[in-house]
Amino acid sequence: MMVGAGFCGKFNYTYSMTDYIPTSQIYIPPGMIDLGAGDPDFALLPLDMLQRAAEACFAKSDPAFLQYGAEQGNGYFRKALAEFLSQGYGFAVDFDDLFVTNGISNALDLICTHFTRPGDTIFVEEPSYFLALRIFADHDLQIVSLQTDREGLVVESLEEKLAQFQPIFLYTIPTFQNPGGFTLPVDRRERLAELSQEHGFLIVADEVYHFLNYVNQKMKPFAAYTELETVISLGSFSKILAPGLRLGWMQAHPSKIKPLVGSGLLDSGGGLNPFTSAIVRELVEAGDLEQNIASLKVTYRSRLAAMEAALRQELPKTEFEAPEGGFFFWVRLPGVDGEEFRAKAREFDVGFRHGALFSSQGGLRDYIRLCYTFYDEEKIAEGIFRLKQCLKAFSR
Ligand SMILES: Cc1ncc(COP(=O)(O)O)c(C=O)c1O
Repeated sequence: MMVGAGFCGKFNYTYSMTDYIPTSQIYIPPGMIDLGAGDPDFALLPLDMLQRAAEACFAKSDPAFLQYGAEQGNGYFRKALAEFLSQGYGFAVDFDDLFVTNGISNALDLICTHFTRPGDTIFVEEPSYFLALRIFADHDLQIVSLQTDREGLVVESLEEKLAQFQPIFLYTIPTFQNPGGFTLPVDRRERLAELSQEHGFLIVADEVYHFLNYVNQKMKPFAAYTELETVISLGSFSKILAPGLRLGWMQAHPSKIKPLVGSGLLDSGGGLNPFTSAIVRELVEAGDLEQNIASLKVTYRSRLAAMEAALRQELPKTEFEAPEGGFFFWVRLPGVDGEEFRAKAREFDVGFRHGALFSSQGGLRDYIRLCYTFYDEEKIAEGIFRLKQCLKAFSR
């Protein structure tokens, strides 16, 4: 059997070349507990729901969804989505303000393509989602980072930077931030919206974790501000249904949707993901999306509690705030370099993301990000126990 060091999507691992045939981006070697993987658990991907929805879709015998799609996205799907969002947000969402995407990563790339030029300045939070930083790097954007505290982006830091720079947009993850876990209070959201108007920059709000709240705290999304031309809200089915669908949406003022709808990409290829969106429409109309979210919340709430308990018991010297939603714990290990610790952790068959990945300035080195959604409670406890063993060996 040939063994090689391989690159598998985001993750570098050594694996058996003959045994491994890639099907998903994530590959975790047998025996390893990778608390770095920010993916849903394979066991929670709703095969049955999607099978039912696909059957309902095919039973209609209408082949329109196999045709090039309407540029803004399938109208029936957008109507079903608008209805779901209106219920979930508690205010009316107009299907005309929705544009169908291949997910948030795709939306970010499209926004960079249509609203920025290489060398333009954008603002991001420190820390921020590391793979969004990769997308911004693909577009050669100048990144200026803004300070955050336990409630998210610090408005004074934004004001200070606005006095020095003219950003095209501010990228924020306002609710259950990745990796920080924090949620921006409404008064700060209001102020951000005001500042975007005063200074003429866009707010690109990545609301991917909005519906994954585990303490029933209801937060006003940035989608509530999209009557303003400066606010764009991005949503995704990746964390509430399945990432393989590559389906998401952008909610924005028509002036921000128009350049995308009129792009050469859509002119040639048609609207994004017509096949999948027709199937997901059935699922949404059947009420299965709400049901899936409700059941994910029960599972994730329990996994979150398991990780918090394990951290408090095994790693009492770490610093963290237990999140109230989303996917992650953002943990500070005072005096420990997260990247070096990660290299050591491989010997203990445990993984995580190190903090520096989430910094656009090479900072945050004594942080690590742990995901609690991918494994069940037992594996989470075992993973944190291995981290403790590793830390003992590392600190020696
Ligand atoms: C903050 C954030 N934005 C976007 C994504 C990716 O979203 P999508 O699958 O819709 O591209 C993730 C996935 O981990 C995320 O954490």
